[in-house]
Amino acid sequence: MDDVAAMLDELAGEIARCDKCRLAATRTQTVPGEGPVGARVMLIGEGPGEQEDLSGRPFVGAAGQLLTRLLHEAGLERSDVFITNLVKCRPPGNRVPAPDEMAACRPYLDAQIALLNPRFVCLLGRPATQALMDPTAAISKVHGVPQERDGMVYVPLYHPAAALHQASLADTLVADMRRLGQLLRSAL
Ligand code: URA
Repeated sequence: MDDVAAMLDELAGEIARCDKCRLAATRTQTVPGEGPVGARVMLIGEGPGEQEDLSGRPFVGAAGQLLTRLLHEAGLERSDVFITNLVKCRPPGNRVPAPDEMAACRPYLDAQIALLNPRFVCLLGRPATQALMDPTAAISKVHGVPQERDGMVYVPLYHPAAALHQASLADTLVADMRRLGQLLRSAL
């Protein structure tokens, strides 16, 4: 475990020095992700927003506060899960990361997944779902439906930011999070 923590720290250092894509030029700082080394659940969002860029921590803005409440629906605390993003630098104006930006950053995410070896990987929103699970997936069709692959269970979910703008999605997310909680309990 100490080794994994050290390797995650080393990776965060590498990320902090990264200049592999144009996002390096506009970031305040990198946002590598955070969470306990033994986390059974990993959450993957899209990319840091303004608050995350300023603080260096993932999901600390409005979407993050909603995410923390949603995790409670699944019986989880934020401190139970490892949270990161597809890209570790803020896309200007919070635009969706470009394919080449996601590709440049992907080795960092793959290394984090390999080091943490989580049992459950929650994919928050379309970009994460398409990048990690199925490039053609429609989040409106696959949300909440777990898919097991390579010893990991992928759980695509709506992005909490979408639920901030659309109340009906918030209800859907709450229902999906409760199902996630059942899944986690049944897999104990
Ligand atoms: N949205 C994301 O996808 N990630 C964050 O860290 C914050 C908002």
